Amino acid sequence: MSFDLVLFGGTGDLTWRKLMPALFQAWRHGKLPAGGRILAVARDERTDAQYREFIRDKFNAVEEAKQPSGEEFDRFAELLHYRAMDLSKAEHYAGLKQWLDARGAETVVLFLATSPHLFTEICSQLGSAHINGPQVRVVLEKPLGHDLPSAQEINQVVRASFTERQALRIDHYLGKPAVQNLSALRFGNALFEPLWRRESIANIQITLAESIGVGTRGDFYDRTGALRDMVQNHALQLLTMIAMEPPPTGDADAIRDEKLKVLKSLRPFTPQSVLRDVVRGQYKAGSVGGSAVPGYTEEVKVPQDSRTETFVALRTEIQNWRWAGVPFYLRTGKRLMARDAQIVVNFRPVPHPIFPGAGRANKLVIKLQPEDGLELHLMAAKGTGQSDLLAPVKLDLDFDKAFHTERVGAYERLLLDAIAGRLNLFVRSDEQEQAWRWVMPILQAWEQDEEGPRTYTAGSWGPPASSAMIARDGFVWDEEQ
Ligand code: BG6
Repeated sequence: MSFDLVLFGGTGDLTWRKLMPALFQAWRHGKLPAGGRILAVARDERTDAQYREFIRDKFNAVEEAKQPSGEEFDRFAELLHYRAMDLSKAEHYAGLKQWLDARGAETVVLFLATSPHLFTEICSQLGSAHINGPQVRVVLEKPLGHDLPSAQEINQVVRASFTERQALRIDHYLGKPAVQNLSALRFGNALFEPLWRRESIANIQITLAESIGVGTRGDFYDRTGALRDMVQNHALQLLTMIAMEPPPTGDADAIRDEKLKVLKSLRPFTPQSVLRDVVRGQYKAGSVGGSAVPGYTEEVKVPQDSRTETFVALRTEIQNWRWAGVPFYLRTGKRLMARDAQIVVNFRPVPHPIFPGAGRANKLVIKLQPEDGLELHLMAAKGTGQSDLLAPVKLDLDFDKAFHTERVGAYERLLLDAIAGRLNLFVRSDEQEQAWRWVMPILQAWEQDEEGPRTYTAGSWGPPASSAMIARDGFVWDEEQ
């Protein structure tokens, strides 16, 4: 299948840090369809050869193991082309159309890896230049909007040029192998589904913890905050994958319809419930992994009086028959103790314990990061001679060992899906808008709240109020168990 992949923002961070290494891996694994061209678009003038050298240099910053040999890079680089464009000029889009039409590839993927404020301009220019035929798909990278009205505005402009099935919204968490395994686990096994409900599950915890700070992104981050950066998208997408009903088919819209229903069933926040069920925090100086690190307001390009949250923990419920009354706890933050992303499904304890030590309940841990894996925590007899003494043990599945194949990274998977037109892992506009609708009362309550975020020491697990919130229900965060 011939394809053209156009990367708007071709010299930007996302392109060289994530997209190019992912495309290189896909090519190296022999998964990139033959007959492809990758066209990087940016403002300044460069030749193809200069662009290839630019990417070769940048690849030095890519993880050691994945670095190409010189000869390998040369072969990959033959796919790379470059085009200077002023994204506000119609004639430049006409030139792009000519370039694309001259070959007439079967598939054209336009990846907007630019600053989001350019999305609407680019999409309407693409529409006016008729670069929106049925073979064209446009990929939009987050952040898509700053709140519900701005997200709706972007979607409206996108819809004027592209159909819903042509517009692919990326949430890179959906490309992570562990997240695909979540569907496989639930809908590929008969074992879990009967337990996947309020009668068996006590609570579900989704933690997306990062040990890094905001780095050089202070400017962007300070306008964004953890709620918009991680909760509105990544955490809520994981929640939908965990909580959705089994879809009737594996078709993208069948899946996305079910995910949307979950988002619509989330209990809406009120100003009172935001105060009670949402904790926001901001890191102060501390130490992570043995090194001293500055506080958030000491980071580059962050105002000293910033009230932006770098941590959010919240409690919600899904108001339907399957989940009524089961708390879902979502937590994310920067400069926490460890890089650790996981979903913990805590089952209810046995109804009538007859063995000493039977107090601990079973749990299923779906690990996303730093490695993906699956742990099922059970109680077992220790075999120490005291016949009925129980102790917790875990069935620990390491996918690397189980499958002996290199795991495909999130961007690699999503780029290949975009080229192949597989839409399952992309977010539909109604899902994205519903997620915004749900977080809006939190944003509004915070605007009214004079207290601002609570501080937490870098290297901790966030403000103590986060543990207190979950303790109110008689539970603890997984790492405190
Ligand atoms: C991005 C956020 O979407 O996800 C970043 O903008 C965050 O702030 C990143 O660091 C985390 O992604 P990952 O894959 O490293 O967990």
